[in-house]
Amino acid sequence: MRTLISGGIVVSATGSTAADVLVDGERIVALADPGSHVVQAFAENVDTRVDATGKLVVPGGIDAHTHMEMPFGGTRASDTFETGTRAAAFGGTTTIVDFAIQRRGESLRKGLDTWFAKADGQCAVDYGFHMILADVNDQSLVEMDRLVADGVTSFKLFMAYPGVFYSTDGDILRAMRRAAADGATVMMHAENGIAIDVLVDEAISRGDTDPRFHGLTRPERLEAEATHRAVELARVTGAPLYVVHLSASGALEEVTAARDRGQNAFAETCPQYLFLSDEDMARDGFEGAKYVCSPPLRPAHNHDALWRGLRTNDLSVVSTDHCPFCFKEQKELGRGDFSKIPNGIPGVEHRMDLVYQGVVRREISAERWVEVTSTTPARMFGLYPRKGVIAPGADADVVVYDPRRQQTISAASHHMAVDYSAYEGMEITGAVDTVVARGRVVVSQGRYTGSKGDGRFVSRGLNQYLR
Ligand code: URP
Ligand code: ZN
Ligand code: ZN
Repeated sequence: MRTLISGGIVVSATGSTAADVLVDGERIVALADPGSHVVQAFAENVDTRVDATGKLVVPGGIDAHTHMEMPFGGTRASDTFETGTRAAAFGGTTTIVDFAIQRRGESLRKGLDTWFAKADGQCAVDYGFHMILADVNDQSLVEMDRLVADGVTSFKLFMAYPGVFYSTDGDILRAMRRAAADGATVMMHAENGIAIDVLVDEAISRGDTDPRFHGLTRPERLEAEATHRAVELARVTGAPLYVVHLSASGALEEVTAARDRGQNAFAETCPQYLFLSDEDMARDGFEGAKYVCSPPLRPAHNHDALWRGLRTNDLSVVSTDHCPFCFKEQKELGRGDFSKIPNGIPGVEHRMDLVYQGVVRREISAERWVEVTSTTPARMFGLYPRKGVIAPGADADVVVYDPRRQQTISAASHHMAVDYSAYEGMEITGAVDTVVARGRVVVSQGRYTGSKGDGRFVSRGLNQYLR
């Protein structure tokens, strides 16, 4: 199967240029001057032509933080690997890295195999796994080495959710020491869960049960404090640290200070922290439950600090933390007790579009958009140069993006298996036109043309930013 993507502006992390992209089988074979002899010769024998005139041609998005079918609070995230990865494809994301979960008392291997079984044969786009360590013990430490060798090279630990995923500082120290020896990256959910649980219990006993109290019992300073602790534990052990879903300026200052010292410390933020705020959690009635996630949405003044962090590279990546729960049946579990609202927001479909609004509003350049949504996640999580770049030899994961088309985000038109959109009615500029995943056109003019099972597991190498 030979595909020619012609007439567009190829945008990479380092620059933009008019070029045609030549695809043979699953790989990119060349970038060539439009109309050049190379293109003419290739064009004599192509199966598919994609006209990218007036459009941007970018490497397929990589969402390094999703939770398909994740069990949480007695229910599970509503997108399966099938529906969630198809929605990802619609939004120009051609690779996800999801989180396999070790349960307490069980091995890492068992958790990973469970997630392999969920994803196998279901996915529309390629997928990898991080491993959630919920039980740090002698056996799981040994198992980390094996997982790294098998292409699962990053481990998430939680300073939040006591009794579920929570690890003590001692557990974290031990896991970080092992990760440092393996060259693996430790991903941290940095919120002080022990202190938060006290605030939550007090709020519930006072009768403060509405969704907005989710935010008020998880103060920003307890994210900053945990981030500081994570940074220091990583400093002591030498482990590469990647702070997930960073939501506010205080935590960002901790990451920035670590990076200024030259520490291998990195962080991502998510579209919900760039566009939504605590006021959404305080919407009338139970509407605020749609916006309950952890860390919680913060006051809007944090948006500027996060965009600045994306410009300065103190924030390196935008992932979604896609973790959808239906409003009607699942968020409902927490009516009358915010602590029972399943935590998470749907977003895998609109990450590329939402971050592109940063280009429209001149917060970041188009090149930086590509970098934070594709190239950096590829390098951070050991997928580069197979992914994250349009270059000869790379997987032909390519998105043709219309920078001018207007669209309105709505649950009525999205493809995620969830009954609401956190961005309902938001009018945005820019839209995905065509998506090529490993050489196949999987989305064209708003239609899905791929098949279930197109996506394959990708074994990952180590973080390529380590100093
Ligand atoms: O609210 C969130 N973030 N849900 C998903 C689980 C996690 O902590 O990433
Ligand atoms: Zn988390
Ligand atoms: Zn998450």
